[in-house]
Amino acid sequence: MPLLALLLCAGFASQASAECTRQVLQEATAGYITALAAGKPTIPALAEGNVPYQENDVAMDISKGVLSQGISIDFNRSIYDTTQCASYTEVVSTGKHPYVIGTRLALAEGKITKIESVVADDGDWLFNASGSLSYNKKETWTPIPEGKRDKREVIKAAGDAYIDAWGDSNVKPPFSAQCARLEGGSYISGNCKLNFPPPFNVTNRRYTIDEELGAVDIFHNFSFLDATIPRDPGTQTNNLMRVESGQIRYIHENTICAKKGCGR
Ligand SMILES: *[C@@H]1O[C@H](CO)[C@@H](O)[C@H](O)[C@H]1NC(C)=O
Ligand SMILES: *[C@@H]1O[C@H](CO)[C@@H](O)[C@H](O)[C@H]1NC(C)=O
Ligand SMILES: *[C@@H]1O[C@H](CO)[C@@H](O)[C@H](O)[C@H]1NC(C)=O
Ligand SMILES: *[C@@H]1O[C@H](CO)[C@@H](O)[C@H](O)[C@H]1NC(C)=O
Repeated sequence: MPLLALLLCAGFASQASAECTRQVLQEATAGYITALAAGKPTIPALAEGNVPYQENDVAMDISKGVLSQGISIDFNRSIYDTTQCASYTEVVSTGKHPYVIGTRLALAEGKITKIESVVADDGDWLFNASGSLSYNKKETWTPIPEGKRDKREVIKAAGDAYIDAWGDSNVKPPFSAQCARLEGGSYISGNCKLNFPPPFNVTNRRYTIDEELGAVDIFHNFSFLDATIPRDPGTQTNNLMRVESGQIRYIHENTICAKKGCGR
């Protein structure tokens, strides 16, 4: 029985719903992973039904999306934001229809209130699910020891600086010397610096921040990159980052192309 159901049975409903714990978020992401693998968009924490669901910034019926397909899952990683009560999960599938999926769940009172996914497949930016799988598995995302954890603001500022620097070379993101970028299925080690011709204004940022894992994920609109659509607001993407002692160690990017093989 899911944790929440157990708590409800025990009569601690009001107490349980008031706080957002890691465990509540872990239950929700585990339910999401199970549903994705089963091809049944019925997540325990989704009991109320009718939650807003979107893929690649387009609102859609949850029963028609990737959750209804039943995909084989080779890898998953989640981060948990107990302050905002949200989670972010990355999933790699090298099955017959390979996918790399990034999903943000927003919760309130123990229930999922919104699901948004970046669903990348063949033709999306540098897409290669086997590459994503092998590089992602090699990285170390263990919990940061308690005394060494960065404050939420520090993690967020590092993530924002990475994105802000794209259009403003005066912004100097705090890259660690080992910083590595997993973009689609490509790996770029030892250099995370990236600049694009200004003006470059990344809007619509939605954050998930996990102090324990030193992680921040930012869903946003990537202007400019996709030459097949107007440069603004650009295309749906997200960046997941691992920050250690204030420095960016890993960056993952999952970007959708309106037409296969976009890029300028
Ligand atoms: C998701 O990841 C967790 C943690 O690594 C693992 O225990 C679990 O088996 C994975 N689930 C699937 C369906 O691969
Ligand atoms: C995808 O990644 C795998 C593993 O790194 C690599 O062997 C393969 O050549 C890549 N495929 C393409 C088309 O780049
Ligand atoms: C960036 O876009 C946002 C939202 O459209 C807008 O409010 C802001 O003024 C823009 N900033 C710049 C520097 O263009
Ligand atoms: C983000 O970009 C996509 C693709 O161009 C667009 O459909 C969507 O409306 C944009 N979102 C915002 C909030 O600008």
